Amino acid sequence: GTAAGAATLGLAGCLGFGGSGEDTIQIGSDIPYPPFEYRETDGTLVGFDVDIAEAVFGEQLGMTPEFNQTAFDGIISALNNGNFRVIMSAMTINDTRAEKVDFSDPYFTAYQTIVVPQDSDVTTKEDLRGATVGVQKGTTGATAATELQEEFGGDLDIKQYDLIADAFNAILNNQVDAIINDNTVNAQYISENEGELRFVEGDGAAAEQGKNAPPYLTLTVEEYGIAFRQDDDDLREDVNDALATIRENGTYDEIYNEYFEG
Ligand code: ARG
Repeated sequence: GTAAGAATLGLAGCLGFGGSGEDTIQIGSDIPYPPFEYRETDGTLVGFDVDIAEAVFGEQLGMTPEFNQTAFDGIISALNNGNFRVIMSAMTINDTRAEKVDFSDPYFTAYQTIVVPQDSDVTTKEDLRGATVGVQKGTTGATAATELQEEFGGDLDIKQYDLIADAFNAILNNQVDAIINDNTVNAQYISENEGELRFVEGDGAAAEQGKNAPPYLTLTVEEYGIAFRQDDDDLREDVNDALATIRENGTYDEIYNEYFEG
């Protein structure tokens, strides 16, 4: 019967016999989000999350990670519908999401920052009053933009894009005045479009907010986590142990340095 068949495959998977597919871990992720998950020109999927997945699920837990492209807006429903087992998508841990998923321990610190065209007049947050900002749908950048809109008594237009790449195309084509998004991803797009874009600078206050705080204006401090269905405690605990191990054995730092130090 079906149950017996599944049990046999499960046992084969546990013992590490190839071919059953049981040791593959399906990961939902919204791509591109460089430098966390993006494709090289030849199509190879690379990024900080991709390497952390290989270290955690591959090296530590003996599984084969497989990334599944999923729109960020709706990625939590897709997880809970069973489309894949975990989310690794530079996803910020927050209370709203924690009502629907469980998170691993934090594995990266991020900040919402503001990008404008190089020749923009915007030098402070206040200068964004009346502006149009681009964000990726369903992200904490979108939430930060909504909060700014409230702070401005509604005097801010927000354009939501399915992909962060679309938001950057929009700013490069002068369709939005600014983008609110995670700092290291913004840094990546700024460096890929030399001379076209810049951060809105900070006042130094960010340095108080945490280690590696960027010198730019920051609207939030956030931590990324791997997301699990709420009934997946054993896997989540194994992943937390694996994250601790790769922090201790130097693997985390190696991966970090590959994407963020040079
Ligand atoms: N950290 C932000 C959030 O959790 C943005 C994540 C977007 N990730 C992606 N792969 N597109 O909302």
